[in-house]
Formats: sequence, structure tokens, C-alpha cells
Amino acid sequence: MDSSIDEVPNNMSKKKESDPLIMATKINISSKDDNNDGIYLSWKDLWVSVPDKKVGRRPILEGISGYAQPGEVLAIMGPSGCGKSTLLDALAGRLASNTRQSGDILVNGRKQALAFGTSAYVTQDDTLMTTLTVKETVYYSAQLQLPQSMPLHEKKERAEETIKEMGLQEAMNTRIGGWSLKGLSGGQKRRVSICIEILTRPKLLFLDEPTSGLDSAASYHVMNRIIKIAQQDMRTIVASIHQPSSEVFELFDNLCLLSYGKTIYFGSSSKANEFFAINGFPCPYMRNPSDHYLRTINKDFDNIEEGFGKNIISSSKAIDTLVMSYESSEACLNVRQKVLTICQK
Ligand SMILES: Nc1ncnc2c1ncn2[C@@H]1O[C@H](COP(=O)(O)OP(=O)(O)O)[C@@H](O)[C@H]1O
Ligand SMILES: [Mg+2]
Repeated sequence: MDSSIDEVPNNMSKKKESDPLIMATKINISSKDDNNDGIYLSWKDLWVSVPDKKVGRRPILEGISGYAQPGEVLAIMGPSGCGKSTLLDALAGRLASNTRQSGDILVNGRKQALAFGTSAYVTQDDTLMTTLTVKETVYYSAQLQLPQSMPLHEKKERAEETIKEMGLQEAMNTRIGGWSLKGLSGGQKRRVSICIEILTRPKLLFLDEPTSGLDSAASYHVMNRIIKIAQQDMRTIVASIHQPSSEVFELFDNLCLLSYGKTIYFGSSSKANEFFAINGFPCPYMRNPSDHYLRTINKDFDNIEEGFGKNIISSSKAIDTLVMSYESSEACLNVRQKVLTICQK
């Protein structure tokens, strides 16, 4: 990285350094190597409710359980409004103040808050300065986020490494851009947002719809990089995904399929097809499996056709069937066992 980039004004980094949150990051970064095993995140019987004028409180998540483990990406899928962002927020400990939560969320088997710096959250919207270049954006962020004890050249190296990790080296000197200034593409902007969050090398990464608004090629590139981040450094990644292409869907290790706050399926993404087929909803030939799942469990619109027969059944009934089948399925049993194993670690 060339030296033409100015450092963040000293008073600014001083102020940040005395910030208790930044001090916590500092502690965490220095102790990062103590936890080479990565983070096992598990949740059991998780309920989240919000106030509702008619019924007092309305449940958003209804007793869901699951886990995420190092080196893997867990995809949370479901129709819009099913509770994907709420689940991510609950796991990351950033639910809105009007929500109520019950159930256990365990970090490495223990009930503990996620220490600052061990986890990062990439929100759905990119909040970047449009006039800065990629290099400036990431480098300034590195100066603000990384501890002052880290030499400047190391911060520069870390910024450059991260830019490369997200495949943005070609766009280093391109401005972010916005509505009035031509700049990066949507996919590149998403990757810059992710770059900023992974500068501190968090072991746990939450991503809220990292591919929304991107075309299928850009989505594939973004997801491919995310998978590499998980595998290379044994990081734990939980991402909500709206409508993945079949190529992107194949990249996920585990799938958590939600419908109106209930679990439809949790388990290996490659076995989801089997689960839907044995319950009477086989994926039609040549159809994107994720399209099929989302269409089957969306009751906002029309009715769906059941299996190969032409019996039209309501989506609500299809959802009830799948929720009940899941609760007595081997996949659900595996999740319970896995959560128990994680607790005993
Ligand atoms: N803090 C909140 N207060 C009131 N309603 C909320 C709150 N958070 C989420 N909701 C409602 O919960 C439902 C699920 O929201 P969300 O988790 O954002 O869905 P998704 O991310 O799957 O689209 C929506 O109906 C939303 O309006
Ligand atoms: Mg959402």
C-alpha cells in the first residue's frame, strides 16, 4: 500500500483508544491465539417476541434450536419476515429493546456474552463513505479498529491482506461511489463492507443477507469468498440468505430453514432435498432446490401443488406438516445431540 494515504488524525485514534469498547478489542486481539479452536455457537428453545397492539405480545421466533461451528457456514433461509434477521440479532446479542427473549444461547457451551472483537456483524445495508477509495476505506478502518500497540506497517499489511482476501485488489484505487458518483459495483461494495468487519479477524461472523440485490454471478463470488474465510481460519459464519441460486446453495454446509418463526429444517443442506421428498414435497426436476423450499413454505401468496399428484393443499397445511415432521425427524434428533455435545465441551 502506498504511503500517500494519510493517517487518521492522532486525536481521533487517541479518543478511540480510550474507548472501553476499543480497549476490549485490544484485549481480545492479543488473546486471539488462545482460542485457536474457534467458536461453537448453540441455541436451545429460543423464543423472541415483540409487542403487538391486538394480542399483547407476538412471537417472532418460536422455540428454535440449532448450532454453528468453526470452519462452516450456516445459511438461514426463509420467506421475507420469517425471522432471519431476528435470529441473527438474538445470536449476536443485538436485539431491539422492545423485544423479549427466552431460551439459551451458548458460546463454546457456556452462557456468556460475546466479547467485543470475537464477533462481527455485517448488516444488510452498506454504510460506506462514497468519496473514499477502497484502499482508503479499509486502511482508515484498520487504524481505528486495530489496537494502537500494533505498528502502523502491520495495520497497513492487515488492510492489504484483507482487501486481497475479499478479491478486491483490482479495485484498490476505485472510489466507493454512490448515486451521483460512479464507483464500485454492488458486489464489490458488499465485499468492502465485509472487509471492514473482518479486519480484527473475528472468530464468529454474522452476515445479514450478504447477497441481496446482487446478480447471481456477484452473489456467487461474494459467497465463495465467505466460504473461504470460514475454511481457511476455522471461523464460524452464520449468514441469512434470501434467494440463493443453486450454485450458491451448494456452497453451504448447514441450512436452517425457517417459516414464520418455526424450524422447517435444520441440518446438512445436501440432505434437505431428501427431507422435503419424504414428506411429500419432492423438488421438481431442473428446479433450483432453494426456490422449491421457499415456494413450499411461503403462505403469503397462493396455494401449492403437493408432490407429483395434483392435490392442491394450502401452504399453511404444508408448513404444519413439515414443522411436525421435522420435530420427529432424525435431523432434529441430530441437532439436539449436537447441541448437547457442544454444551459438554
Ligand atoms: N423490534 C421489532 N419490533 C416489532 N416487530 C419486529 C421487530 N423486529 C422484527 N419484527 C417483526 O418480526 C418479523 C420478522 O422480522 P425479521 O427478523 O426482520 O424478518 P426477515 O429478516 O426474515 O425478513 C417481521 O414481521 C417484523 O416486522
Ligand atoms: Mg432480514
